[in-house]
Amino acid sequence: MRKNTLVIKLDKENIKLDELKIPSEILKSGGLVAFPTETVYGLGANALDEDAVKSIFVAKGRPSDNPLIVHISDISQLENLVKCISESAKKLMEKFWPGPLTLLFEKSDLVPLVTSGGLDTIAVRMPDNEVALSIIKQTGLPIAAPSANLSGRPSPTSASHVLEDLDGKIDAVVDGGETSVGLESTVLDLTSDTPLILRPGSVTREQLLEVLKEVSYDSALESSDKRSVPKSPGQKYRHYSPKAKMEIFLGKREDVVDKINEELKKYDSQGIKTAVLSSDETLDLYNARYKLSMGSEKELSKVASNLFHLLREFDKLDVDIILSEGVEEVGIGKAIMNRLKKAAGGNVTYV
Ligand code: TXA
Ligand code: MG
Repeated sequence: MRKNTLVIKLDKENIKLDELKIPSEILKSGGLVAFPTETVYGLGANALDEDAVKSIFVAKGRPSDNPLIVHISDISQLENLVKCISESAKKLMEKFWPGPLTLLFEKSDLVPLVTSGGLDTIAVRMPDNEVALSIIKQTGLPIAAPSANLSGRPSPTSASHVLEDLDGKIDAVVDGGETSVGLESTVLDLTSDTPLILRPGSVTREQLLEVLKEVSYDSALESSDKRSVPKSPGQKYRHYSPKAKMEIFLGKREDVVDKINEELKKYDSQGIKTAVLSSDETLDLYNARYKLSMGSEKELSKVASNLFHLLREFDKLDVDIILSEGVEEVGIGKAIMNRLKKAAGGNVTYV
């Protein structure tokens, strides 16, 4: 059903109480409101209202077995949502909340199974963005919010990305400007013996090890074996995808540049429209008509905040194939490579 999506502009430096009325009333009455967080825009609904949560899945075209993250504005909201809060969880929340770390807990009976995608665990985080926090606070509710994109598309880092995907399908979008981190939160499972990173994000394993004795990555994240099932259902789908096919080339910088130039020539001779995704350092080395830079390889946090916007830019260029470099998998580089590989459907060549 087509709706009129209302756009509500908010200045995150100067949020007025009456501006929060409309979005919070929509959420309280079971509607859908997209809003910015520090990572990406989320598509919010009352996490405890089954019908509201179901309509998130419909608007996004999201598989119903892919659970949602519940967003809170105050730690006191957590008690009703989960069975118990471990000492490790307390320490992590103290250090990283509000912020881009999502924690898994055993869920309480209050949380409907639609919200948790049928699982008995629930993912929770407290976003570090004043607009998000004020809206959640104003509703007094836990707010379920997946990234506010159509399922499979790159996550939105601005209100215009949200409208590209969901205009007419949701009640409102709160435009609070561009998001700062640009990649979704780190998802950490504390319900297994060893804490497991199910989705890498800007809170890195190294940072988590400052609080926890051990932290591993879900082994299925790294595996090329199609039979290994990731513990985070969202990781099993092709995701973040631009419309073009994407190929990633990894190796020594000179070799990668040579290989991509070679591929460009090959595709050109076949009349296939190509584009290159490079770094600032290598942009000039490509003989390509269409080329975009992720940013400097020395500033990976900027690369992270540019990435999803760039993937959407390629759609506008209407190219058939994107030939992409990778980044070094250190710090947030791990999360960047996770998203790039997903966008490429695992199509990686080592040169
Ligand atoms: O930064 C973020 O996390 C953004 C903003 C809006 O907060 N949200 C976000 O939500 O990225 P979404 O739904 O696009 O991704 C949630 C991820 C999915 O991969 C999902 O499978 C996983 O978290 N997840 C959620 N609950 C889970 C659970 N109980 N067990 C395992 N994985 C879970
Ligand atoms: Mg998502």
